[in-house]
Amino acid sequence: MKAYRAAILRFDPDQPPHEAAQYEPDGLLVVGPDPQGGPCDTVHAVGPYQALALQFAQVAVQPLPGQLIAPGFVDMHVHYPQIDVIGSPAPGLLPWLENYTFPEEKRFNIPEYSAQTASFFIAELLRNGVSTALTFATSHPESVKALFSAAQEKGMRIITGKCLQDRHSPDGLRDDTEQSLIDTEALIQQWHGQARLGYAITPRFAPTCSSAQLKGAGELASKYGDVWVQSHVAENADEIKWARELFPDSRSYLATYDDHGLMRQRAVYAHCIHLDEADRALMHSTGAVAAVCPTSNLFLGSGFFDYARADGAGFGYGLGSDVGGGTSFSPFHTMLAAYYVGREGAATQGLSLSPQHLWWQHTAGAARALGLEGVVGNLQVGCEADFVVIDPKATPLLARRTARANSLDELLFALIVLGDDRLIVKTHVSEKNRPYVPVSA
Ligand code: GUN
Ligand code: ZN
Repeated sequence: MKAYRAAILRFDPDQPPHEAAQYEPDGLLVVGPDPQGGPCDTVHAVGPYQALALQFAQVAVQPLPGQLIAPGFVDMHVHYPQIDVIGSPAPGLLPWLENYTFPEEKRFNIPEYSAQTASFFIAELLRNGVSTALTFATSHPESVKALFSAAQEKGMRIITGKCLQDRHSPDGLRDDTEQSLIDTEALIQQWHGQARLGYAITPRFAPTCSSAQLKGAGELASKYGDVWVQSHVAENADEIKWARELFPDSRSYLATYDDHGLMRQRAVYAHCIHLDEADRALMHSTGAVAAVCPTSNLFLGSGFFDYARADGAGFGYGLGSDVGGGTSFSPFHTMLAAYYVGREGAATQGLSLSPQHLWWQHTAGAARALGLEGVVGNLQVGCEADFVVIDPKATPLLARRTARANSLDELLFALIVLGDDRLIVKTHVSEKNRPYVPVSA
């Protein structure tokens, strides 16, 4: 076993998100092999140092004075093959896909290109404090293998899947309906549940999938109930119009997925901006959840996720970077963008997201939405020991500002507003308790 002495942040699963944070100014985190024999280290004890020091006197303690231990961040929606399209300007989603994203994704039929990008992507997640991600690959099965292999090397919890897109996609990216479903099932059997890896059935979005492909994906979603489903919905006005033209028999764009058996627990829909109340009720009744991607929505001018109406309907959600529509891997940038999006709603509804709520959305809340509560995104006893070490004095401005914080909310807000990758001293991923140390450190 190993122990770490520092300030510790975790979340009480029984409290509402805006007041769920539990903070130990002088805490002890004790981690060690999983007593249940799981694939990685888990949290054995966590709490005030004074209360635990005697009980764990035999365990080597690493002191981290002045630093903050927090759960590793969970990115609910990101595209690993889009690293090299970050910051590509376009009037909106559809031209952005056509002019930048599809041409880049075509390159992932080359295994070496996939492998090199996958390794870079994994390193970039860890450098930014992200220890779990649900990510898109491309339509090429090679791209999935490359990412799973890179994640396994680091012992990371990664969920990904081959994009399904059998129409309205260029040569080299468009897949074949029948073969795409055969490939998906083979990848599920090969990778899902291996160590910390999980598979996600990945219809790109309804406009690029035939009804036959969506139906086949829905059948796989029903056959493999603990596999994830991921897609996009209700992001952009032109996209919605197109989806409605292609599936006129469905009640709404979102309902198209339900009509093909693709809404259930562990189904994650990115964006969910332009939903109506019936859609929100459908999210809630099916157990599907939203990946909120504020930097992407602001960059592509897609719109603003409606937090008040999501809470009113009671469906789950958490944060995603959506790189490369999204502009940053940093959870701090994503949380700040979510705050701005929440402010847009606050103008009409009087709702403003608290720093605890923002942080929860990128850790314990995201884990809950993914069906991984008690596994990742938190540091309660029994959770996998994925955590970040944060240096609140990482820059002169952060040092000056955080020294003035008079409450936990003030501290978390200062980190969210001023923070980026420089805050992350280390990201521990739990398997073999291997720390990731930035090369420059
Ligand atoms: N809709 C379909 N594909 C994509 C994608 O790659 N990014 C975003 N933001 N939306 C999509
Ligand atoms: Zn996306």
